[in-house]
Amino acid sequence: MHNKYKEKKSIMNVIRLKIDNKEVTARKGQTILEAATDAGIKIPTLCYHKQLSPIGSCRMCVVEVEGYADPMAACTTPVAEGISVLTQSDRLFRMRQDALRMILVNHPLDCPVCDKAGVCELQNLTFEYGVTSVDYQLPKRKYTSAYRTTFIEHFPERCILCLRCVSACKEIQGHRALSMENGENGPQIVINRDKCVSCGECVQVCPVGGMLEKKSATKWRSWETTTVRTTCPYCGVGCQQLLHIDKNGKIVQVTGVEDAEPNKGRLCVKGRYGFDFIYSEERLKTPLIREKDGFREASWDEALDLVADTFKRIIKESGPDAIAGVSCARSINEDSYQMQKLFRAVIGTNNIDHCART
Ligand code: FES
Repeated sequence: MHNKYKEKKSIMNVIRLKIDNKEVTARKGQTILEAATDAGIKIPTLCYHKQLSPIGSCRMCVVEVEGYADPMAACTTPVAEGISVLTQSDRLFRMRQDALRMILVNHPLDCPVCDKAGVCELQNLTFEYGVTSVDYQLPKRKYTSAYRTTFIEHFPERCILCLRCVSACKEIQGHRALSMENGENGPQIVINRDKCVSCGECVQVCPVGGMLEKKSATKWRSWETTTVRTTCPYCGVGCQQLLHIDKNGKIVQVTGVEDAEPNKGRLCVKGRYGFDFIYSEERLKTPLIREKDGFREASWDEALDLVADTFKRIIKESGPDAIAGVSCARSINEDSYQMQKLFRAVIGTNNIDHCART
């Protein structure tokens, strides 16, 4: 009975429609863009980002729906039973070209010096839609101040006002540090310095070079990098990262893996920007044993033997409660579990804590 109810409910939730003359099924509440993507049909987008609520600001995703005079944005229009959608036509092509031209009126063509070159969504679409000139004459926006943190640089003149950064700051990170406000030169992104924590989510979702990383600026070109997926070393959450490695084998950027749990692309300021310690000259590479005149390098075997012998001596002299352990917050849960097991079961004390406050 229960299963039949579920079956009936799921049948009621199925919507049948046609996209580019192909029979497609979608779930109730999905947008035309989501239904097309699930069916393997590509619709161009610029402001849309799968981790964010639809924004509908760029008009690149326009599609024609049979029976409606005007094309509509696929990213904000929900599917409906029996509709027939066209994603490609001469009219749509021209509309998308016009949308790009409107954006390019104010967007500087400084691709040779922009770090986003090669991975810029606007650059790719401009090329795909063959936009070679911008005939519109609009007053150029002027910006007097730009926002900078230790890690992020804002290039307001490159901003296409897609609002992905505003939505990501609010919906993904929950900081609400970004907003769009009307200034003397029209709308622009404004950053509340007190709320910004430099997490870099705005940089990750920016489709152009409007928000960039300061740290590795102009040191690399995207097409010369390779990526390696790894787990963030900073805490036990296990966020999935992509390390971007330049042609010299050095990490130049870290981004979150958008389709992977547990972070779904999101990273904190440490995970995203705290990687240069890897190349520090001061990095410890071997254990150090303290002696009268300071430290001397030792092998792991020697260091671990020293720790074990010292533990044994202290336990013999003062009992197991004279020893305490603090497990590192960067450890995974399993390592912390083993640490408390070692202290309770082997050493024989409950003096064990975890520095999960970093
Ligand atoms: S992607 Fe739909 S309006 Fe921008």
